[in-house]
Amino acid sequence: MRFIRLVSAASLVLPVLGFVVPREQDSLHISTENRDAFFSFNLRIGDDDHKHPKHPPKHPKDPKDPHPPPHPHPPHNDKPGDGDAGKTILEVISNDEAFSKLWSFVKERETLVKALNSSDADLTLFAPVDSAFWEHGGGHGKHRPPPPPEIITQGLLYHVVDHQHKEEDLKNGQLLDTGLTLGSLGDKPQKIRVFEHKHHVALNLRSHIIKDDIKASNGIIQAIDHILMPPPDLFHVTVRFPKIFGLLALAVKRAGLEEYLKETKTITLFAPTNWAFKKLGVKKLKYLFSHKGKEELKKILSYHVSTELVYGPEILEAKNKQLPTAEGHHLNVTVKDKDPEHGHKHQVIEINDQAHAFITDGIAANGVLHAIDHVLSVPKDEDGEGDDDDEEDVMEAVLEYLMDEEDDEGYDFAW
Ligand SMILES: *[C@@H]1O[C@H](CO)[C@@H](O)[C@H](O)[C@H]1NC(C)=O
Ligand SMILES: *[C@@H]1O[C@H](CO)[C@@H](O)[C@H](O)[C@H]1NC(C)=O
Repeated sequence: MRFIRLVSAASLVLPVLGFVVPREQDSLHISTENRDAFFSFNLRIGDDDHKHPKHPPKHPKDPKDPHPPPHPHPPHNDKPGDGDAGKTILEVISNDEAFSKLWSFVKERETLVKALNSSDADLTLFAPVDSAFWEHGGGHGKHRPPPPPEIITQGLLYHVVDHQHKEEDLKNGQLLDTGLTLGSLGDKPQKIRVFEHKHHVALNLRSHIIKDDIKASNGIIQAIDHILMPPPDLFHVTVRFPKIFGLLALAVKRAGLEEYLKETKTITLFAPTNWAFKKLGVKKLKYLFSHKGKEELKKILSYHVSTELVYGPEILEAKNKQLPTAEGHHLNVTVKDKDPEHGHKHQVIEINDQAHAFITDGIAANGVLHAIDHVLSVPKDEDGEGDDDDEEDVMEAVLEYLMDEEDDEGYDFAW
């Protein structure tokens, strides 16, 4: 059960949904080799996280009360200054001790130096304070090599966003285009996803602003407590959240769609949660996870992948979209107004009137993931060709499967 071990190792990595964009000569494409390097680096970070007794506390929005996270390492200066409206972003970070690690990486990269020092620019820099780097830098008696320079450059570009985004303007669900463009996104910028929960803003779930709106002449700086990691491919995003997508990750592997979800560019995954899969019932699940059910499983999963990359805000704006799927049939995605108990309306995204996308915009290197609460059924072809899995046939297959003792790979659904 190598996969299970992979899942539990990955579960130690705290959620990092989200990646940014270089321009022109900085347009880097992530090779498979780099992605592996990035991912193994990331897993080791997760390993360390596990050893810390507690994650840093949530940071309040009040900039006067930043409560930097307690850290078991030698002290860092985690209290950035107020900036200087007469200096560029580059000059501000180079003069502020709280950003000494960031500065040591930035100063070696000419493109970044130019961009952050340009008087024409109007940027937001999400600037990790020194302790954010420390967790990546070793300690704990282990010496870990830093990621390759190209990965560091990509990571830095992921922290640069066009236009000034003040902290108070960051809203739940907002997507920020970064300086990292990816071939796997059709040469479009990778995005950061803003989460807001009880007045705390988190970028890609994990990075919190610990000092906001630091002034500069060519933009603003938001000091953050965790590095923003460019997210992995869609398959690895599901692997990172076993408590939500464990069954989906397992099903994808089982159906032989793992490489498809890793390698295909610009796709959207409507991702049924573990809870959604369990609604199918144990019998249906057992069948789908059997050898006999494998083709049907593949068909169902392919129907959850749109070959069109579509983010939540586009769906909300369009109200109605027919999306092509990898399976062949279309998905009908519609926005409905719901009138909940408390009187204020909110909009929900529904797929085929069957499922509801309750978390949108999980960012991945090759697309985006929207979490859904029901597994979608694949439409039957009118001429019946190829689609003969009506209820009776499925039941028959399930019965056959249940009598087939040797077809047992020991999966259980206890997650
Ligand atoms: C940044 O720009 C200023 C002029 O605006 C210049 O004096 C300074 O040398 C530049 N710094 C770097 C590191 O290029
Ligand atoms: C999608 O909508 C079209 C047009 O309204 C309809 O014909 C089709 O049956 C719908 N498909 C599904 C899977 O709901």
